[in-house]
Amino acid sequence: MSRSASLVPTVRSLPAVGSALLVLALTACGGGVQGTPGGSGVRDPYFPKAGNGGYDVTHYALDLAYDPDDRRLAGTAEITARAGKDLSAFDLDLKGMDVERVSVEGARARWSRNGQELVVRPRDELDEGETFRITVRYSGTPQTLTDPDGSEEGWIATADGSLALGEPMGSMAWFPGNHHPSDKASYDLSVTVPQGLEVVSNGELTDRSTSTDKRRMTFHWRTAAPMATYVATLAIGDYDIRRSSVPGAAGRPLPVYTAVSPSQAGPARKVLARIPEIMEWAEYNFGPYPFSSTGAIVAAQEASDYALETQNRPVFPGAPSTELLVHELAHQWFGNSVTPKSWRDMWLNEGFATYAEWLWEEDNGGDSVQETFDALYDHGEDDHEDLWSFPPAEPASAANISDSPVYERGAMVLHKIRQAVGDDTFYDIVQGWAAAHRHGNADTDDFTAYVEKKAPDEDFTAIWEDWLYGDGKPDRP
Ligand code: TRP
Ligand code: ZN
Repeated sequence: MSRSASLVPTVRSLPAVGSALLVLALTACGGGVQGTPGGSGVRDPYFPKAGNGGYDVTHYALDLAYDPDDRRLAGTAEITARAGKDLSAFDLDLKGMDVERVSVEGARARWSRNGQELVVRPRDELDEGETFRITVRYSGTPQTLTDPDGSEEGWIATADGSLALGEPMGSMAWFPGNHHPSDKASYDLSVTVPQGLEVVSNGELTDRSTSTDKRRMTFHWRTAAPMATYVATLAIGDYDIRRSSVPGAAGRPLPVYTAVSPSQAGPARKVLARIPEIMEWAEYNFGPYPFSSTGAIVAAQEASDYALETQNRPVFPGAPSTELLVHELAHQWFGNSVTPKSWRDMWLNEGFATYAEWLWEEDNGGDSVQETFDALYDHGEDDHEDLWSFPPAEPASAANISDSPVYERGAMVLHKIRQAVGDDTFYDIVQGWAAAHRHGNADTDDFTAYVEKKAPDEDFTAIWEDWLYGDGKPDRP
């Protein structure tokens, strides 16, 4: 409802002329009485403060400068958003950094900070449906954050630069935003660094320029396809860059952009040479690649404890195995294009990406998926002591969203479906699922409903009850 529409009930009893005057008067002084604050989270069951209510971001334009010597990041975030209701105030997520100025639609706004919430009170209220522009000027030393599971993310300073990783909540360390997977947006990222360093991010490099004094370089990266903030990345440092292309199922060449830390050159280049083969295999199995470029970023080994499926080009700490490369590229379909509605739905990412590894082995002379499944069923606890500790669709807590039940048992759910429906329908489901929610968001209910629709004669009740939602190790059928 727009502001003027919502005024109608309150003035209905007044004479027509009076009500028109009242509307005029209220509009002229900015309304002021209708909007309410947007809310400090989107009620994620695992990360209640992640994201913010009341608006949806459509575009992030980040203009940043970083100096690895003093580890200072400074810049401006210009965020385009659409109000989901009449808003008197709204929050952005930003952890650390100093905020210097906030404006909304070009007018200075009042703001305050409360933990990770940057609370913004625009001078004029925002109407439901209105598209508005928020500008935040900020600077400081961005923080490395520790996840509930003890892993590190956010902004990681490296020997010669930095690496930004954001799953599940690290991206609020380097830019203000709506940091929840349910709100995806396009991005323009402009980053200025000392001459000689490379800047690598998501999407495509559209421009590169040298400052007039030749001491700095500005890189412009553009991500047109919707992207969740947790798979945004920014790698700054000494990298060996290579560009090539693969044919691409869509009929036009797909650019491949890889960046490798010199410390990893030999082993990394060997495995990255398999990207064309993996992309072709993945498009054959999962359907057309959803993005406009691919690649990888291989950072120094000590940069991170884990790889991440950052959009377009995943990040690896050191040269990955082929299976890990397959895993992170499979996430481009499952996670980055079809993105979870909340962190509870993480198994939709990790179950599929793990299943992709099993399929790759099956198709490349390794164990069949059935063998992998059987070995896990019989002895899975030897390698994953927590394999049966909670059901994939209901992680025990925020500290458990990257645990084995989400990955391995999640993949086992997919295999139970394949056993039930056979290969033809299974691949139909896999490709259809990726197509149905392409560039969108989905949750477990969407998935089970989709599977049931694709195989209407099958009864999946036992699979859902025992494998997806059931406690403990399911009985052998
Ligand atoms: N999702 C990543 C992958 O599957 C791994 C990952 C991201 C992770 N954040 C994490 C693992 C935190 C452990 C802890 O490739
Ligand atoms: Zn994964």
